[in-house]
Parts: sequence; structure tokens; C-alpha cells
Amino acid sequence: MDRTFAMVKPDGVQRGLVGDILSRFEQRGLKVVGLKMLWIDEDLASRHYAEHVGKGFYQKLMEYITSGPVVAAVLEGKNAVQIARDMMGKTNPMEAGPGTIRGDYGLEIGRNVIHGSDSPASAEREIGLFFKPEELQDYEKIDAIWLYE
Ligand code: RTP
Ligand code: MG
Repeated sequence: MDRTFAMVKPDGVQRGLVGDILSRFEQRGLKVVGLKMLWIDEDLASRHYAEHVGKGFYQKLMEYITSGPVVAAVLEGKNAVQIARDMMGKTNPMEAGPGTIRGDYGLEIGRNVIHGSDSPASAEREIGLFFKPEELQDYEKIDAIWLYE
């Protein structure tokens, strides 16, 4: 099984989309193994988005991601990283297809509602940034035999 990191951004929290977004992942079959609300500080923001340092949108991105509480989740399942990214849709909601989270709930790239790890390596790094090992739950879920053959 693979794990990915997903995070409802401050706009998603403010707009009351946390329940719906988590519900989508649950309904798809991804298992929630970690979940918390936190307010990202500058230090965590800069570590999370280290790959974007120096880009034109970096300062606005820092302000956006630290502008209010977020809900961070670790999701587990077969191909979890790719599945979650596909469910989020393209980075710019304008280009994200209907049925995707960004395509259903966003209008602009700088308010795109959700973050998701872009590779298994990013997932491992990001999970480590946001969760301690003891905050992740190892458990069997009753739907596993109906999701996997
Ligand atoms: P994320 O990391 O947030 O899941 O988004 P992503 O992989 O789809 O996109 P990425 O290239 O990593 O960009 C990170 C976030 O920065 C903001 N952004 N703004 N104004 C711009 O041109 C621009 N480009 C990116 C978005 O909030 C994007 O999600
Ligand atoms: Mg990214």
C-alpha cells in the first residue's frame, strides 16, 4: 500500500469544504491514517514549499498557505499518490476538469483549495514534515476485501 499527503488549504477550510473533500477520498476507497488541523507557520511553509523558493509566486504562496488553519491528512491505498492527484485536478482550477476537487470548487490558481503530494518521494517527505510517526494509525478497515481483489 502507498501513502500520500493531502491538505485542505486555508480557502478550503474557510469555505466549509473539509467534510466534502475528506468524504471524496473516503468514498474513493483511500483510508485516512492521519488527520489534523493546524495553522502553518512561516518555517513549516517554507520547508513544505522549498522547491518554489525564488519563483515569482513564492511570496504570495507563503501568505496564502499561512493565512488560516489547514486540515492535513495522510491517505493510504493502492497508488494513493496518483489517485489523489488525479482527484484534485490540474494546479490551475481553470484547467481542472469537472468532477475534480479544483475543477468543482476553484476559480484561480492562487486559491486552489487543496494540496497533494506529487510523487511517492514527496509524499514521504511531506508526511514527515506534518506528522510524527505515532500520529499515524496502522489499522485494518472492513472495506478492504471489497476494494481489493
Ligand atoms: P500543490 O503543491 O499546492 O499541491 O500544487 P501543485 O503541485 O499542483 O502545484 P505546484 O507547482 O507545486 O505549485 C504550488 C502552489 O503554488 C501556487 N501557485 N501559484 N500564480 C502562480 O503562477 C502559481 N503557481 C503555483 C498554487 O497554490 C499551487 O498549488
Ligand atoms: Mg506541488
